[in-house]
Amino acid sequence: METKIETPINFQRFEYLGWQKAAAKYSRFSLLTQQSVGDLIKHLNIQFGDKLLDVATGPGFLASRAQEIGAETVGIDLSEEMIELAKKNYPKIEFRVANAEKTGFYNQTFDKIAVNHGLIHFARPNVVLSELNRVARRRAVIGLTIWDSPDRTVAFSIVSKAISDLSSVQINAPKGIPMSFYSEKKNVRELLDSNGWILTEFIHLPVVWKLETPESIIDILMEGTVLMASKLKKQPRSVLSQIRDVVIHKLKPYTTANGKVEVPQGVLLVVGKK
Ligand SMILES: C[S@@+](CC[C@H](N)C(=O)[O-])C[C@H]1O[C@@H](n2cnc3c(N)ncnc32)[C@H](O)[C@@H]1O
Repeated sequence: METKIETPINFQRFEYLGWQKAAAKYSRFSLLTQQSVGDLIKHLNIQFGDKLLDVATGPGFLASRAQEIGAETVGIDLSEEMIELAKKNYPKIEFRVANAEKTGFYNQTFDKIAVNHGLIHFARPNVVLSELNRVARRRAVIGLTIWDSPDRTVAFSIVSKAISDLSSVQINAPKGIPMSFYSEKKNVRELLDSNGWILTEFIHLPVVWKLETPESIIDILMEGTVLMASKLKKQPRSVLSQIRDVVIHKLKPYTTANGKVEVPQGVLLVVGKK
């Protein structure tokens, strides 16, 4: 099945502006996205001397872990604010502002390409996958992580349902690829196949989101994400408060004796070879 974003330029602009804003406060949400970095590195078999491209690097976490192993790493991101942060965090690593659709690297530059939680943010995933194929060396490997299907991403499903049940405003953010689209294996296979990659692994990572309190989930999403944040920020104060209450209630089964939360937020790890 093919899916296309109707207005990719608008969506890309929305993403860009959103991440520019979220960068400074991304750290709490990134405790979740960082959980798949180790698996991505392991399944890409990143080794000393590998030339690695970290796409949509954000604050550069994956790039830094790969550099520690001895990979020659470059991180790229569309957001200048994210790249500023990455450079500040890891001054010895090369980071560049670049759109994954047109990276600016020579043909066949990289042995390994990693995209940790970037795919659903791209306005034209096919253009990106094709561009990454161009800059990949012969026998290069690509690894991507994405959110798993709604039944496995319990935290996001609880919040999304509360928003759609209670929202009192029209949410007209530019639409991207639906979050669950690439959690279907056939859709990922088609994306890779049609852009010069062969799917080799499709793994469910049982990631659990650990939160200090059930209340904190809404604040973390509002400060550290783009689409979910925009849906929450648009709500009148009274509706936002109702959404909070419902979410806290639904998180009860995942609340531990000491008041913390451990809620499934599964991740899919996809690996392909050129
Ligand atoms: C959810 S964050 C992931 C950041 C980091 N990889 C992590 O795991 O925490 C998504 C990132 O994708 C970047 N991004 C969105 N569209 C992009 C594009 N077309 N090219 C490069 N980066 C893009 C955003 O600026 C943002 O930093």
